[in-house]
Amino acid sequence: MASREHLPASGPEAPPTSSLPFGRVPVKLSVREHLNVTSTTTPEPAPTQGPLIDRYGRIHDDLRISVTDRCNLRCVYCMPLEGMSFLPHGDLLSFDEIAAVAEVARDLGVRSIRLTGGEPLMRAGLVDLVARLKGLGFEDLAMTTNAMTLASHARALVDAGLTRVNVSCDSLRAERFSSIRRRGDLAVVLHAMDVAEEVGLAPLKVNVVLLRGENDDEIEDFATFARDTGRVVRFIEFMPLDAQGSWDRAQLVPGREVFERVHARWPLEPLSREGDVAPAERFRFLDGRGEIGLISSVTQPFCGTCNRLRLTADGDLRNCLFSDDERPVRDALRRHDLDEVARLLRQAVWDKYPGHAINDPSFLSPARSMSMIGG
Ligand code: 5AD
Ligand code: SF4
Repeated sequence: MASREHLPASGPEAPPTSSLPFGRVPVKLSVREHLNVTSTTTPEPAPTQGPLIDRYGRIHDDLRISVTDRCNLRCVYCMPLEGMSFLPHGDLLSFDEIAAVAEVARDLGVRSIRLTGGEPLMRAGLVDLVARLKGLGFEDLAMTTNAMTLASHARALVDAGLTRVNVSCDSLRAERFSSIRRRGDLAVVLHAMDVAEEVGLAPLKVNVVLLRGENDDEIEDFATFARDTGRVVRFIEFMPLDAQGSWDRAQLVPGREVFERVHARWPLEPLSREGDVAPAERFRFLDGRGEIGLISSVTQPFCGTCNRLRLTADGDLRNCLFSDDERPVRDALRRHDLDEVARLLRQAVWDKYPGHAINDPSFLSPARSMSMIGG
């Protein structure tokens, strides 16, 4: 299994291609190699005991649950302004069904849950779902939100058991914010961040998708924001997961560039430790003021330590954002066959590819985009 390393920039062990004081060990196995293997061998049943583990030894203890594919925004990197179609309500898993999957997953070793979408707060009664999940014993219960309606729900969410929140915010300039997020309002989101902190959702993480020529001139402003507020700003590379299929590598701002620009102004030091499973490479400012993260899914994949499994709003298990591999659990749930749900969870993890193939010339964007899968 590949692991991460944080190496000195100029030390003898520094990787030849890196000028950074960190580096991920690239995933050695490619998806293509793996495909070749499975095409000549019979599919292998997953282990029936022990934690959720794949063939490469990665233990999966993080379940991301999408509660809706709908959203009140139309971010340019996510979905088109018009014409997006959404799941019929009857296709969505009910809260009972979501809780049933979570309970089975808990018994198989899942420790943390993240609620995603679409925009999770578009799903009516979300607070009740949080309370249900808390009741199942999950201590780490997080949510990714665009925060347009977070302010009015934050207190109830915390009371129900929510422990962490990631807020998406791609510009600190009001007009630009609205043009990237279309329909969004920066003032509303900044206010929601304050409220979230007041009710105890701190430290807050702020997700920034960087787009070349759109908001990459705000890297230093976001670093200043992180230093001034204590919020952890995470710079995310644009991934080929937009519904309109217009992803263009030229629009991607590599994490390395972000590091170099911020480090040149305010020296940084790595915070992540070898074996960490979070996708963000974490750095703190050497003068002690704040932290940033880099989510470099395209240029520095973190597949080697991936511990995530996803459940779509309509009840498909996805073992990777970038693969079309989906295992439906809805039918088994509606038959109340929880043994089958457990088997599907185990098999979905066991069959996971070693890494994604975004950088392979034959890579095709997955059929379902980010808002349909759950970020
Ligand atoms: N590339 C990178 N990040 C994306 N997100 C949505 N679409 C993309 C994309 N194509 C981000 C959102 C949110 C998180 C769930 O995923 O901004 O922070
Ligand atoms: Fe909505 Fe999130 Fe997609 Fe933006 S990125 S349109 S907030 S689901």
